[in-house]
Amino acid sequence: MADSDKVFAGSIPKLYDTLMVPLIFEAYAGDVAARIAASRPMSVLETAAGSGVVTRALAPRLGTEARYVVTDLNQPMLDYAATRQGADSRITWQQADALHLPFEDASFDVVLCQFGAMFFPDRVAGYAEARRVLRPGGLFVFSVWDRIEENEFADEVTSAMATVFPQDPPRFLARTPHGYHDVAVIRSEVNSAGFSHVELETIEKVSRASSARQAATAYCQGTPLRNEIEARDASRLEFATDRATVVIAKRHGNGPVAGKIQAHVMAAVK
Ligand SMILES: C[S@@+](CC[C@H](N)C(=O)[O-])C[C@H]1O[C@@H](n2cnc3c(N)ncnc32)[C@H](O)[C@@H]1O
Repeated sequence: MADSDKVFAGSIPKLYDTLMVPLIFEAYAGDVAARIAASRPMSVLETAAGSGVVTRALAPRLGTEARYVVTDLNQPMLDYAATRQGADSRITWQQADALHLPFEDASFDVVLCQFGAMFFPDRVAGYAEARRVLRPGGLFVFSVWDRIEENEFADEVTSAMATVFPQDPPRFLARTPHGYHDVAVIRSEVNSAGFSHVELETIEKVSRASSARQAATAYCQGTPLRNEIEARDASRLEFATDRATVVIAKRHGNGPVAGKIQAHVMAAVK
């Protein structure tokens, strides 16, 4: 993973939240929030919470006495998330690396992490850290994207980038968000972290945007792909977005666009 892959800062948090979240994250957030709320937890830790899409879905479903600690590596993402959430004394926002959680052993009923594990430099260590802070019997729920070929817009944007920078194509989307999808590896790593049983479900959904340009802007400017494009030539960010727009429109048309997305959702008990 390139260092810039985990940097969600500058213009990214706002564009991520306004464009990427409705495109691909919101649909999965509702599912995970419903699943966690059904277990009626009194204490929840969210890692890699980003701009808070799961937090917004889950907080209204938790009990009035529940404690909800919401964390992310990048403070700018949490700052943005906090602006989207109404005042809620149950929620604590705290910067934290999911691999080094500043919490005591056995202090949460649930740990959840939506689309964050792909960014962990050591997944077994990240899962073991989630397990450490879970009470016995506690639930760990996390999700990762399936391979890029199952996620149409991401695949199309990645092929467009190869035409803009043919010598050194920006491969962030294939390398990181879509680089950890082998279910046998995922199961084995969760087991290596000490969880004896993991349920895994592969869930397909449809990603929708008002236009090819909106989808292209989301991926090129609202994710760390932006860091990779700007590192090559910052003046070509708009051009790269234009090329991604053309590739998406060629396949999905010039009006509102819809594309397949697919993810793996895991649940493990301590
Ligand atoms: C694709 S976003 C997912 C955000 C959110 N969960 C959602 O569903 O929209 C990945 C997030 O992982 C965070 N992240 C990356 N590495 C991390 C780490 N080691 N510990 C905690 N968060 C991390 C990033 O800051 C980013 O907000």
